Amino acid sequence: MAQTPVKVTVTGAAGQIGYALLFRIASGQLLGADVPVTLSLLEIPQAVKAAEGTAMELDDCAFPLLRGIEITDDPNVAFNGANVALLVGAMPRKAGMERGDLLEANGGIFGPQGKAINDHAADDIRVLVVGNPANTNALIAQQHAPDVPAERFTAMTRLDHNRALSQLGAKLQVPVTEIKKMTIWGNHSATQYPDLFHTEVGGKIAAELVDEAWLRDTFIPTVAKRGAAIIEARGASSAASAANAAIDHVYDWVNGTEWTSAAIPSDGSYGVPEGLISSFPVASRNGKWEIIQGLEIDAFSRERIDASVRELEEEREAVRQLGLI
Ligand code: NAD
Ligand code: LMR
Repeated sequence: MAQTPVKVTVTGAAGQIGYALLFRIASGQLLGADVPVTLSLLEIPQAVKAAEGTAMELDDCAFPLLRGIEITDDPNVAFNGANVALLVGAMPRKAGMERGDLLEANGGIFGPQGKAINDHAADDIRVLVVGNPANTNALIAQQHAPDVPAERFTAMTRLDHNRALSQLGAKLQVPVTEIKKMTIWGNHSATQYPDLFHTEVGGKIAAELVDEAWLRDTFIPTVAKRGAAIIEARGASSAASAANAAIDHVYDWVNGTEWTSAAIPSDGSYGVPEGLISSFPVASRNGKWEIIQGLEIDAFSRERIDASVRELEEEREAVRQLGLI
């Protein structure tokens, strides 16, 4: 029997990340090489024509798994029956800005989209927020979708996770495949905490394989400020690497993994207040993220996790003040 295609909605489809993402979804990299998909592209009215151009190119690839494309500026149409929603559409920051500076400009996008997801998406909807500030935008969307289980709203810290793997691999001169149990905690911002105290390389704890000064003064800031360094170098924010991380996040969510990083609603684990959408070490089992439990958190890590979580609380308070939740 022919398999029903999975409907994947991508917002900001005509943007930089959208262009890097759509072809990979259509080729089967998001869900699996045997899973047919339909794509729904949501854009603002001025960018619908550009999205139509991208759709023409998607057609021209003749992807065997791509069973249809719709393009719309109406969230109620875009999310109707959606199984996976990638909320990318939002303004990127410019040089000199922090991601939190985008809260006011971008926050307003996510309430209406959350409501449209609530009212129209399929029962198994999974949402990944990429648009910045991603954690708090995910919280805004979730707060407008009371009928959708809260844990279906996630935000992307997989790019930070992949950056951390790459930096550590280069330092230790090992392929990233040798590195296990990397963890990003907290916010997708400069306060995030890439944790090497549980990371293993060849069965040894990574923090013990590097000197403390490198860990504290090079590794952590390089990972946490990598987005700004990319903007400085490219003159535009990361796009292909962000799309790649979105693919990794959803693929693992659907197909399972024993350990990665994702920002998911806190259940109070590790002292992160319940409800905040914070990055944790996670496994995915039976299509659900689970926070990996039982890790020892020393004072060095505690201080950094707390600082990032405090920032998430401040962002939540800011969007309350703005009337966005
Ligand atoms: P871009 O400016 O190239 O594209 C954004 C697109 O979103 C534009 O086409 C715009 O028309 C569209 N858009 C704006 N408002 C919309 C709305 N209400 N509905 C639908 N579409 C809308 O930006 P980009 O480089 O693709 O980045 C998109 C977002 O992703 C930015 O906020 C950026 O900071 C963020 N980002 C996050 C990560 C992460 O790791 N979480 C990584 C990279 C970029
Ligand atoms: C990134 O991490 O590259 C993105 O969040 C873009 C940014 O503003 O840093």
